[in-house]
Amino acid sequence: MPEVLNWQIGRKMSYPYEESRPRRQFAMVMDLNKCIACQTCTVSCKTTWTRGRGQEYIFWNNVETKPYGGYPLAWDVRILERLGPQRWEGGRYAGQTVFEAAPPGETVLGWFPSAPHWMHPNLGEDEPRGRVKRGTYLSGLPHAVWMFYLPRICNHCTYPACLAACPRKAIYKRPEDGVVLVDQSRCRGYRECIRACPYKKTHFNLTTRVAEKCIGCYPALEQNLQNMCVTACIGRIRLAGYLTPPRKDGSPPEIEEGDMQNPIDYLVWKRRLALPLYPQFGLEPNVYYLPPVHVPLPYLRQMFGPKVEEAVDTYRRMMKEPEKERELAGLLCLFGSTYRVIHRFRVSATHAHGYDEEGREIVRVPQREPSYVRPFYDPERGVYRHNVP
Ligand code: SF4
Ligand code: SF4
Ligand code: F3S
Repeated sequence: MPEVLNWQIGRKMSYPYEESRPRRQFAMVMDLNKCIACQTCTVSCKTTWTRGRGQEYIFWNNVETKPYGGYPLAWDVRILERLGPQRWEGGRYAGQTVFEAAPPGETVLGWFPSAPHWMHPNLGEDEPRGRVKRGTYLSGLPHAVWMFYLPRICNHCTYPACLAACPRKAIYKRPEDGVVLVDQSRCRGYRECIRACPYKKTHFNLTTRVAEKCIGCYPALEQNLQNMCVTACIGRIRLAGYLTPPRKDGSPPEIEEGDMQNPIDYLVWKRRLALPLYPQFGLEPNVYYLPPVHVPLPYLRQMFGPKVEEAVDTYRRMMKEPEKERELAGLLCLFGSTYRVIHRFRVSATHAHGYDEEGREIVRVPQREPSYVRPFYDPERGVYRHNVP
């Protein structure tokens, strides 16, 4: 098998195809500190793309409550257990990826969910870890009792396991933006993609008998518009854009410094705040998460890799002293602020600005929402406003 470079695990690994990176990689960042599991993303995706026959239990986008939720049931626990010990030596992953741990004769270590696994997309919702006793929520950080919401879409991986496993070569990665698609005219329903994807983001349509998956809303991307799940998001936790590929040796690319910066590069490469989900699987996923700061570190380390501690520290610092982290705090204000893809951003004294590919301003958001506190007693109307703080 060819050896390819996976910067997220800090080393080369075996993969069935040669390394071939797209010209630029579609990527999404989600801030897990802000997700409220309203499922608006799920519904917006479903009503746009998957409301046909055979798609009743198919959710290209889902939001699950961690640690107990999972769609399909226990998708991550099952693959983590199969993978065995996952040791990191600094930034280098010393365990096996799903490609390296594949049984003889197979390309990927996988498992095949059965129908009941898909039938309860939101099982475990709001179930916390730890016993809830009076006062437990107030006993400091990390919380003794905790949970968080994890929104998930296909990661449009650099090394997709679905693509690697398909005997029909029916799955491909677009060279122009790295979006991973199923060519349904080639698909013969072998379902190896479903067995292989560790994130379980390929689905089988029982009516059409072919595979399907999140398409990264490519018709929108081609118009320079952000994805449905991004623009519909109530919590404004998402930002879509493009990640610059790493250098040949896996080190961060040269990032333009200065006034205007690529927001995805800023969060992933420069601030190292946005982290991939289960990098140890070896797929180089391209959905990145700002980790939830109230969750115990061992759990976060397993989920987001060894850089999570630094990311949590940065996020906490930003919350505590936003003036010192004005650029970062300003960028987070741009999440969910426009339908259009923000290629560059800049933070001025009062506003965060987003720009298109040509450098034209497309959005401007105040760093602080103006607020007006009305008096408790309104003499003109002779009323008390009891809900005024
Ligand atoms: Fe394929 Fe799964 Fe990666 Fe999506 S997340 S590209 S379905 S391997
Ligand atoms: Fe659905 Fe588009 Fe979001 Fe994919 S990117 S989950 S297709 S809304
Ligand atoms: Fe290939 Fe998956 Fe279809 S393995 S043939 S894309 S069901």
